[in-house]
Amino acid sequence: MNKINAAITAVGAYVPEDVLTNKMLEKMVDTNDEWILSRTGINERRILKDPEKGTSYMAIKAAQDLITKANINPEEIDLVLLATVTPDMPVAATAVYVATEIGAVNAFGYDLQAACSGFLYGMSTASAYIESGRYKKVLLIGADKMSSIIDYSDRTTCIIFGDGAGAVLFEPNNEGLGFQNELLRSDGIGRHSLKIEAGGSLMPPSEETVTNKRHYVQQDGKTVFKFAVSNMADVSEQIMKKNDLTNNDVNWLVAHQANKRIVSATANRMNLEEEKVLMNIHRYGNTTSATLPLLLSDYEKQLKKGDNIIFATFGGGFTWGSIYLKWAYNS
Ligand code: UT7
Repeated sequence: MNKINAAITAVGAYVPEDVLTNKMLEKMVDTNDEWILSRTGINERRILKDPEKGTSYMAIKAAQDLITKANINPEEIDLVLLATVTPDMPVAATAVYVATEIGAVNAFGYDLQAACSGFLYGMSTASAYIESGRYKKVLLIGADKMSSIIDYSDRTTCIIFGDGAGAVLFEPNNEGLGFQNELLRSDGIGRHSLKIEAGGSLMPPSEETVTNKRHYVQQDGKTVFKFAVSNMADVSEQIMKKNDLTNNDVNWLVAHQANKRIVSATANRMNLEEEKVLMNIHRYGNTTSATLPLLLSDYEKQLKKGDNIIFATFGGGFTWGSIYLKWAYNS
């Protein structure tokens, strides 16, 4: 029997309409357009302003975009996985609500949380379900309403993050296309370098936690930057070696959009030309779980069947890794 590979067969995306530019941030905190652009590569980000709408709103929109574009019958979806650090509520998995709302009535669903590596780890999970033969259609969504956990008086974080969602469908492939290999890593050393302190079992919500802004993202940017640059480049180089890939064999790098300088450092280590590096951080900032599928959506028309793609992420925890996948369709 032919080996079953897990291939991405469709992509969808959604970003909110409201734009938060660097110029607008200049009026909110002590920063400037030149600093933000040169240090991060970001021009603007999208914000889901409606306080009545949570992450599920964007996840549903991204899934519906995929379903419409690829003409999928949602009743055939077996599983809905949602990578997010901003679920609608701490309990009642957002993926379950999303599955019901998109008409995936025969699916089960659950959320995955691994900070900025949530979607990458989700690709590993989705692929394992498909490769085992257990399920035929796994919908993986990455969605985050980062604006709900950002302190817009903290210039070290508010300039970086944005809101958005993206979705991919994994299905079996018998031609050797799709998921090939992975190198996933984590290290608890990063627990205090990028975190939301309160709201969990260690520090439940209280008047004190709200007053002291402990429900917002705090980041030691320099430390995260240092670890991100070396670790993301390491795994990306290693996965190429592991699969006997030279820089000429790699068609695309799809890397987490946290900072343009981190992505460029990874591409340099892989010896990749700039044209092969997918980039949209200038438009959306860091959308955490949504960066990889938003890149796939923006570049979908340029991706060709058989293309070798290296995915790479680094995020809080720390969590990081790299996945080698062969693209399975022309659009
Ligand atoms: O996706 C999850 C993973 N997250 C990341 O990968 C983020 C990793 N870190 C970074 O991307 C960068 O560290 C930042 C973009 C967050 C910061 O860039 P940096 O080049 O590391 O700046 P820095 O923190 O070393 O700060 C340099 C200077 C400081 O001033 P002094 O001490 O040199 O006088 C900061 O106070 O820039 C100052 N600064 C700012 N200035 C204008 C910090 N934030 C700002 C700001 N605008 N928004």
